[in-house]
Amino acid sequence: MMRTLLDGIGWQQHLRPFLVQRLAARAPWGSVLGSLLVLLFLLLALSGCSLALYYSPSPDKAAASLSFIVSDVPAGRLLRAFHYWGAGAFLLTMMTHLATNFIRGSYKAPRQFTWITGVLLLMVAAGLLFTGSLLPWSARSYSAAVVTSALISQVPIAGRQIACGFLGGYSVSGLSLTRFYVFHILFLPALLMLFAAVHVYLVRCHGLDECDCDAESAPPATPGYRFFPEHVRRLLCVFVPVLGLWLMIAILGGPPHSTPLQQLDGSYEPRPEWFFLWLFQLLTFFPGRWEWVGSLLVPGIGLLLLFAVPFLDNARRRRSAGRPLATAVASTAIAAVVYLTLSAWQHTLPYNVSTIASRPAAVAELRGRQLYAANQCGYCHTVKGLGGRPVGPDLSNLAARGRTPQEIAAYVRNPRLVTRSALMPAYRLSPSELADLASYIQSLDSRQCSIHLWPKHSSSTAPR
Ligand code: HEC
Repeated sequence: MMRTLLDGIGWQQHLRPFLVQRLAARAPWGSVLGSLLVLLFLLLALSGCSLALYYSPSPDKAAASLSFIVSDVPAGRLLRAFHYWGAGAFLLTMMTHLATNFIRGSYKAPRQFTWITGVLLLMVAAGLLFTGSLLPWSARSYSAAVVTSALISQVPIAGRQIACGFLGGYSVSGLSLTRFYVFHILFLPALLMLFAAVHVYLVRCHGLDECDCDAESAPPATPGYRFFPEHVRRLLCVFVPVLGLWLMIAILGGPPHSTPLQQLDGSYEPRPEWFFLWLFQLLTFFPGRWEWVGSLLVPGIGLLLLFAVPFLDNARRRRSAGRPLATAVASTAIAAVVYLTLSAWQHTLPYNVSTIASRPAAVAELRGRQLYAANQCGYCHTVKGLGGRPVGPDLSNLAARGRTPQEIAAYVRNPRLVTRSALMPAYRLSPSELADLASYIQSLDSRQCSIHLWPKHSSSTAPR
């Protein structure tokens, strides 16, 4: 009876061989990470579905439904924290999986397509994290959506259209939130499962990648390393501590507090979630008209390189000691991401914010303020300590320091003509634009009025 039932689902023919198929003779422990990701995904899907039972993806209800989950739903606070930290754990595990496979050279023939589907999975996961971070519809989510769509619009040829399709219009609106939600709960998870299925199929096709280390440094052969029970046993050894840690962090605390959208005002400095901080920090190295280098070129080249890895490095040699270039590139990339994240943590990095004097501004001053934001002077200047990074001098009270508008304009047009060793880039602006900028900067006089931040990002439709 049992036999025929099992045969009805293809037990003997398909399922049993899948479970007991010999995977490798020398399976490295790192090969557990892939299976760990599947388990993490299942738990994320489960907690996500539970959150979706209460969440309402409309701009006027999103924040309220979230606070209802946190305060009124049984274990709601834990559920939300679990989902939030799980997303981070998923990303970190994925990065570790990628890094270990890179170091071991697992992308080499015949596993090129396994690698490529892996990179695709990473992209989809980043999309899931990003769309998820928009759903609380807080000041942070809102400005992340505004900033990202501004960056996407820079993509040549179809940028505006892509941003428009992503937002459901030319600016961030209620329709945008519905789109992010659909992406987050339907489209991207489906894509993730599809790629994951192909990925697992390919892994099974080629077997686990064994290391081809020297005989003496090789791990002892594990006789008949099968999915069940050897692999599952190892998986549980890793999964149980990970789950414990995850639960513990979720019990200790939820996502960091984010300002409600209603309170978005001049003093709010947009910052993305921690996992995108490094990209955000990268932008600050390319102020003004070079922004596209940080927002498109560097990430684009990085992604292309990731996809091209199996074709760039197709030599037979595997051990990292035999591949100094690949190892150097990988460790530089990892160090750069860690460095950028840490330094972004230290500064508050405003994106396109400028300051404004609290008195009615003249038309020239308003135009000047827009130029100040459009040229991202705030990447290097603060005004009365606000709205930027203190790379250059603070630009408040320049009038009091005896600078005339003509001097300011001359400086911005070509700093090196004024100070030979100047670090500030020259700005090719028209004389009238320079005059507007100068009168804006001169208006920032804290002896006459107070000065506060002006977020340019809250009016994303303003012309650049
Ligand atoms: C890459 C960083 C950077 C950017 C971007 C930048 N500056 Fe500067 N700026 C500096 C530095 C550094 C100085 C100090 C002198 C020097 O080394 O050039 C300076 C000096 C100045 C001064 C002279 C201040 C004084 O005391 O006389 C003015 C005015 C000024 N910047 C305005 C601007 C404006 C307006 C913009 C945007 C159009 C801008 N800066 C963009 C770095 C920058």
